[in-house]
Amino acid sequence: MLSVNSFPWGTSPAGPVDRYVITNTTGNSVALISYGAIVQSILIDGQEMTLGFDELSGYLGVNPGYGATIGRYANRIGGAAFTLDGTTYEVDANEGKNQLHGGSDGFNSKVWDAEPFNADGKAGVKFQLVSPDGDMGYPGTLRVTVTYTWSDDNALRIAYEATTDKKTVLNLTNHTYFNLGDEETVLDYILQVDADRFTPVNAEQIPTGELPDVRDTPFDLRSPRRVGDAIDSDHSQIRAAGGFDHNFVISNHDGSLREVALVIDPHSGRKLRCWTTEPGVQVFTTNFPTGKYEMRGGTPTPRHGGICLETQHFPDSPNHEAFPSTVLEAGDTFRSTTVFRFE
Ligand code: BGC
Repeated sequence: MLSVNSFPWGTSPAGPVDRYVITNTTGNSVALISYGAIVQSILIDGQEMTLGFDELSGYLGVNPGYGATIGRYANRIGGAAFTLDGTTYEVDANEGKNQLHGGSDGFNSKVWDAEPFNADGKAGVKFQLVSPDGDMGYPGTLRVTVTYTWSDDNALRIAYEATTDKKTVLNLTNHTYFNLGDEETVLDYILQVDADRFTPVNAEQIPTGELPDVRDTPFDLRSPRRVGDAIDSDHSQIRAAGGFDHNFVISNHDGSLREVALVIDPHSGRKLRCWTTEPGVQVFTTNFPTGKYEMRGGTPTPRHGGICLETQHFPDSPNHEAFPSTVLEAGDTFRSTTVFRFE
């Protein structure tokens, strides 16, 4: 039997926080917290699959967004501004003059309403948030739902829904850092991403607008490659980021839920498969110098200690007409689904 249990998990500046543990029939579990609608832990055969913290205080302190729901706009908005119907909106700039991951008080630092459920072989938690008109500079009152479902086949399904009362832009993702075993880094992992293009960035990590073919570059992950080999390259984009920190453009995207990425840890034999309806995925190989951040038990987070598959629309889309639109009209419903399955 699937089960969902909830526990009080301390208090954040935004209010009291609860932790929800969903356990499937095989004993594998996912833990979610109402602070940031964060994926706090995924245990497969007793082994932790994520980087994160065991206490709320870790998430309240400086950290690189472990497990967090990112909004209103995942990734960067150049110049922290965009124009909609002739009106320019200035959003909170929290990375130099640009915005990263929704600003200094993004969805990852809000306390979400939570509703656990367990019916018909699906158990999970539905998180809801109302982001007021003007929140971090964005127009429109945005009502967002993030529903996590955990099933007996070890698949974590993340379904996003949002509505607005005024035309706005939106880009939602989940920022889980995966590490599938006991290796300190993901350099030996095998990675495959079904993307024939990527979005190169300038020195501030804002897309240049080009959509080059991945052929003959380290970004060609259409066939499986060892992460360490792919990023051991003198390609200027790789050197500038110190690894992958790039948006891959999903091949033949049509909005249906499709398998887009596969990660294999050859040491543990574990695999992670990712499906999404989104047109892009930011592959991030945790390029920070070792010890810039901490994780569970106060351990310094190793450089390349985890891999993120941030399914998303492209960075800075509001300023690039040629990119798939991130506009949400009043009265429309935004829907997006991503599935991570452990094998
Ligand atoms: C970004 C990185 C950033 C990291 C932590 C990723 O999504 O692409 O550049 O350092 O998140 O915020």
